[in-house]
Amino acid sequence: MIRFLALSLCASSAAAESGLAAWLRYAPLQGGESYHSSLPSHIVALNTSSASPVYVAGQELQQGIQSIYGKQCNVHHSYDGASSSIIVGTLDEYTKAYGSLSNPPNLIEDGYWLNTEGNTIQILGKNERGALYGTFAYLSMLAQGNLTKVAYSSNPNAPVRWTNEWDNLDGSIERGFAGNSNWFANGVIVSNLTRTAEYARLLASIGINAVVVNNVNANASLLTPQNIEGLGRIADVMRPYGVQVGISLYFSSPTSGVKGQANLTTFDPLDESVVAWWTNVTGQIYQQVPDMAGYLVKANSEGQPGPLTYNRTLAQGANLFAKALQPHGGIVMFRAFVYNNLNETDWYADRANAQIQFFKPLDGEFDSNVIIQIKYGPIDFQVREPASPLFANIPKSNAAIELQVTQEYLGQQCHLVYLAPLWKTILDFDLRVDNESSLVRDVVSGQRFNHSLGGYAGVVNVGTNDTWIGSHMAMSNLYAYGRLAWDPTLDSQYVLQEWIRLTFNADQSVVNTMTQISMESWPAYENYSGNLGEQTLTDILYTHFGPNPQTQDNTVWGQWTRADHTTIGMDRTVSNGTGFAGNYPPEIAAMYENIATTPDNLLLWFHHVNYTHLLHSGETVIQDFYDQHYAGAATAQTFATMWESLKGKIDDERYYDQLFRQVYQAGHSLVWRDAISNFYNNISGIPDAAHRVGNHPYRIEAESMQLDGYKPYTVIPFEAASNYTAIVTSSNTTTGTAQTMITCPSGTYDVAVNYFDQFGGHSHFVVSLNNVTIGEWTANLKPWIGSSEGPRVLGHTPSIYIDGHSATRITFSNVTVAKGDMLKIVGTPNGIEPAPLDYVSLLPLGIVD
Ligand SMILES: *[C@@H]1O[C@H](CO)[C@@H](O)[C@H](O)[C@H]1NC(C)=O
Ligand SMILES: *[C@@H]1O[C@H](CO)[C@@H](O)[C@H](O)[C@H]1NC(C)=O
Ligand SMILES: *[C@@H]1O[C@H](CO)[C@@H](O)[C@H](O)[C@H]1NC(C)=O
Ligand SMILES: *[C@@H]1O[C@H](CO)[C@@H](O)[C@H](O)[C@H]1NC(C)=O
Ligand SMILES: *[C@@H]1O[C@H](CO)[C@@H](O)[C@H](O)[C@H]1NC(C)=O
Ligand SMILES: *[C@@H]1O[C@H](CO)[C@@H](O)[C@H](O)[C@H]1NC(C)=O
Ligand SMILES: *[C@@H]1O[C@H](CO)[C@@H](O)[C@H](O)[C@H]1NC(C)=O
Ligand SMILES: *[C@@H]1O[C@H](CO)[C@@H](O)[C@H](O)[C@H]1NC(C)=O
Ligand SMILES: *[C@@H]1O[C@H](CO)[C@@H](O)[C@H](O)[C@H]1NC(C)=O
Ligand SMILES: *[C@@H]1O[C@H](CO)[C@@H](O)[C@H](O)[C@H]1NC(C)=O
Ligand SMILES: *[C@@H]1O[C@H](CO)[C@@H](O)[C@H](O)[C@H]1NC(C)=O
Ligand SMILES: *[C@@H]1O[C@H](CO)[C@@H](O)[C@H](O)[C@H]1NC(C)=O
Repeated sequence: MIRFLALSLCASSAAAESGLAAWLRYAPLQGGESYHSSLPSHIVALNTSSASPVYVAGQELQQGIQSIYGKQCNVHHSYDGASSSIIVGTLDEYTKAYGSLSNPPNLIEDGYWLNTEGNTIQILGKNERGALYGTFAYLSMLAQGNLTKVAYSSNPNAPVRWTNEWDNLDGSIERGFAGNSNWFANGVIVSNLTRTAEYARLLASIGINAVVVNNVNANASLLTPQNIEGLGRIADVMRPYGVQVGISLYFSSPTSGVKGQANLTTFDPLDESVVAWWTNVTGQIYQQVPDMAGYLVKANSEGQPGPLTYNRTLAQGANLFAKALQPHGGIVMFRAFVYNNLNETDWYADRANAQIQFFKPLDGEFDSNVIIQIKYGPIDFQVREPASPLFANIPKSNAAIELQVTQEYLGQQCHLVYLAPLWKTILDFDLRVDNESSLVRDVVSGQRFNHSLGGYAGVVNVGTNDTWIGSHMAMSNLYAYGRLAWDPTLDSQYVLQEWIRLTFNADQSVVNTMTQISMESWPAYENYSGNLGEQTLTDILYTHFGPNPQTQDNTVWGQWTRADHTTIGMDRTVSNGTGFAGNYPPEIAAMYENIATTPDNLLLWFHHVNYTHLLHSGETVIQDFYDQHYAGAATAQTFATMWESLKGKIDDERYYDQLFRQVYQAGHSLVWRDAISNFYNNISGIPDAAHRVGNHPYRIEAESMQLDGYKPYTVIPFEAASNYTAIVTSSNTTTGTAQTMITCPSGTYDVAVNYFDQFGGHSHFVVSLNNVTIGEWTANLKPWIGSSEGPRVLGHTPSIYIDGHSATRITFSNVTVAKGDMLKIVGTPNGIEPAPLDYVSLLPLGIVD
C-alpha cells in the first residue's frame, strides 16, 4: 500500500527560523500522531561507540521520528528480538546479528540498502558512512511525509565528494559571503567546534565525505604542531558524521620557516630533503588525523609557488605529495587551474588553452592517488562556459570536476541564482571522445576511462551566519551540489523541490512559487549579466560583483571579449583564431569551429563577429544583447512579487530576509541591464531598435535637478550611472539638497531612487514632496521593509567607489503625486560616502524603469 502525507504537510508553525537547521529541521507533520502505529518503536543501531556514524544514525532516527511524528523510540545497540524495529548498521554487522539477507544488495563503498517494506526497516551500509547516508535518505522521506514502501540500494556515482572551503587562518574567507570562518581565528583553530560539527552533519545528510578546511591559496603556518593538533580536533568532531578532513598546502612550505618544523633552503620536489620534509609532516598529520582524506594543491597558479620554479613538471610536483600520502591511503587533488599572464595584442593568445598545454603532455605521469581537479569551464566559474576540454584530454589520469557553490561571479548570494541547471549543462555534456558517448559526469566518476578514483569538489565557503552561506534560498545550491555529486543524473527541479519541502514546507503554493523563482533565476542572471557566451561581464579586477565589462579586456588575465567599435568575441577557431576549439574531440571541435553549428549561447565564446551578425534566432548580436538584458531584468522584477504571495505560508523571519534580497536583486538587475546595454550601445553606436536603451521617460536625472550643496559627478565606469552622471555632496560634512518641480500628470506612482551605497560611510537620505516626507533611509543596506526583524546586511564584497557594485535602488510604492509638487531629496554624507544620487524614477503603476 502506498501512503503519502503531502496534504497534511502544511505550514503549521510560523515560528521564526534562523536557517541554522537548513534542510534538517525535522519539522512536525500535522496529524503525524495518526501514523504512530505504522512506525516502528525500536531502533537498533549496530555500534556501541558514540563516535561512530552508525551510533549517530540511531540518534538521528530517534530525534527525527520524535520531532516529525511525535513518536518516542528507544535505541538499542544489539539485536533486541523486537518484531518491529528500524535496524541500522553495516551489512556485515547486520549479517552477524540477523543472518544473511535473502537477496544481498550490490553495494560499493558508501552505498546503502533501504528497505521499508516489512515490519522491520533495514538501513544497511556497505560501510558505517553508507548506513548514515541511508538513514538520512529515510528521514528525508519521513520529513516530506513520504511513507511510500521502498526497497532499493543506492551507490554513489563517484568516491570523491568533497567540499573546498576557502577559509584563511586569520578567520576571513576568500569569496565567502556569510561571515567569518567557523573553525579558524587569529592563525589557529578555534576551541569551540560546535558549528563545525553541525556543518559535518549537514554535509553527511547530502552524501559529502570530506571537507578541505583551508583556502587553496594556502598558508604554510597551517603546518605548525599546534595547528596539526587543531586539525585533529576538527577531524574528531566531523568523524561521527563520516566526513573526513583534507587540507590545502602551500607548495613552498619547506622554506617558509614554519614554527616547529625544519626550515629548508629549497622546495624543489625532487630534492631529498624536501621529500623527507613532506614525508615527516605528512606523518605528523596522520598521527593526529589517522583518516585524513588528503591534500589539495594549487601550484604555479595566480602567483602560488610550484614545481616550475625548479624546472620540474606539475606531475613531479603532484607526485611529491602522492608519495607522502600513499602509505596512509590519502589522495592528492591537484588543481588544473594553471595559466600564465598573456598579452591581448596577440590574436592567438588564449588563457582557455593553458590547462591543455600544461596537463595534456603529462597524462600518464601522475601517480595513481592523484586526481586532477578541473573547473567546469576553461576560464573561471562564469555564468556560462563550454565544458572544459581537459576532461577529454587526460584519459590516463583521474579527474574531478570543481563546481562553485559560493556565487563568486554570480551575484554573491545577493542575487538568487539556482546553479544546478548550470552544472547540469556541463555534467550532461557529451565530449564524444573517440566518437563514443563521453559525458563529463562519466569521466569524473571514473567510468568512461576506467579509473577507480574521481569525483566532485564544490567550493562552498560557509561562514558563521546562521544561514551558513549568506542567504536562505542560496542553500539550495549546497543541497543540490551534494545530491548531484551522489547522483548526477538527478533532475535539477526534482532536487530543488526536495530541498523546498525539507527547508520550508510542502504547501503546494510554496513549492510552486519557489520552484518558479529558482528555475528562472539562472537564465535571468545570464540575460542581465553576460549572454551569448560573453562570460559574466562583472568587474574581474575588483569585487567580481557588479557590472564592469571593460575590465575583461586590456589586462593580462586573459578573460578577453575583444570588443571594439564594430566587432566582439574571442575567435577560438582553429582556422583563424586561438585554436581552442580544436582541443575538443573531432565531433565537438567541428561543432564549435563552425559558426553555423555553434549554439547562440556560446557564440562569442568561440567566434569574433560584427555586432550586426545574425544569430540563429534571426536577431543581431547587439539587438539580442539589448533584448536579453531587458528580459532578464524584467524577470528579476517578478521575483519579489511572487515571493510576497508566500506571506504567512512560511515563517516571517525567513520571509522578510528573502524579500529584502529579492527587492535588492530587482533593483540591481536594472543596474546590470542599463550598464551592459549602455556600454555596448556606446561602443557600437548602434541604437536599440526598441528605443529603450538611453531613453528613460520616467527618470529625473539627479544632475538635472536644482542642486544646493550637491554637485555633478562623472561616474567611473561611465555606464554604471544613468546618463553617465551622479551627484555628490560638495563636502563630506555638509548636507546637500536636490529638488525639482514635478511635471508629469497627477496620479499614483512608485517612486524609485537610485543611489550608491559605498563601503566606508552610512549617508542618510530624505525624500519629500512639498516638504512632506515620503521616505527616508540610511545607505547601509539594512532593510527598509517595515519589519521588526533585526538588521539585515548584504554579504557581497563591498566597494568603496561610486560604481556598478555600490549602485542600489530603493522604491516607495503607491505615492500620490500632483503636477507642480516639489520633489526634494536631502542627502547627508557620512564617512567617505558623499550621499551619492543617480536618478529618481516616477513610475506609473506597473511600469519599472
Ligand atoms: C517518495 O520517496 C521515494 C524514494 O525516494 C521516491 O522514489 C518517490 O518518488 C517519492 N515520492 C514522492 C511523491 O515524492
Ligand atoms: C559554542 O558554539 C555554539 C554555537 O555557536 C554556542 O551555542 C555555544 O554556546 C558555544 N559554547 C561555548 C562554551 O562557548
Ligand atoms: C627560512 O629560510 C629562508 C631561506 O631559505 C629564509 O628566507 C627565512 O627567513 C627562514 N625563515 C625562518 C622563520 O627562519
Ligand atoms: C619528524 O621529524 C622529527 C625530527 O627529526 C622527528 O622527531 C619526528 O619523529 C618525525 N615525525 C614523523 C611523524 O616522522
Ligand atoms: C628544464 O628541463 C628541460 C627538460 O628536462 C631541459 O631541456 C631544460 O634545459 C631545463 N631548463 C633549465 C633552465 O634547467
Ligand atoms: C603587448 O604587446 C605589445 C605589442 O608587442 C606591446 O607593445 C605591449 O607593451 C605589450 N604589453 C605588455 C603588458 O607586455
Ligand atoms: C581572422 O583573424 C584576424 C586576426 O589575425 C582578424 O583580424 C580577422 O577579423 C579574423 N577573420 C575573421 C573572419 O574572423
Ligand atoms: C563585418 O562587416 C564588415 C562590413 O560589413 C565585413 O567586411 C566583415 O567581413 C565583417 N566581419 C566579420 C568578422 O564578420
Ligand atoms: C546628462 O548629463 C549631462 C552632463 O553631465 C547634462 O548636461 C545633461 O543635462 C544630462 N541629461 C539629462 C537628461 O539629465
Ligand atoms: C518647504 O519648506 C521650506 C522651508 O520651510 C519653505 O521655504 C518652502 O516654501 C516649502 N516648500 C513647499 C513646496 O511647501
Ligand atoms: C552574516 O553575514 C553578513 C555578511 O557577511 C555579516 O555582515 C553579518 O555580520 C553576519 N551575521 C552573523 C550573525 O554572523
Ligand atoms: C571626507 O572624505 C575624505 C576623502 O574621501 C576623507 O579623507 C575624510 O576622512 C572624510 N571625512 C570624514 C569626516 O569622514
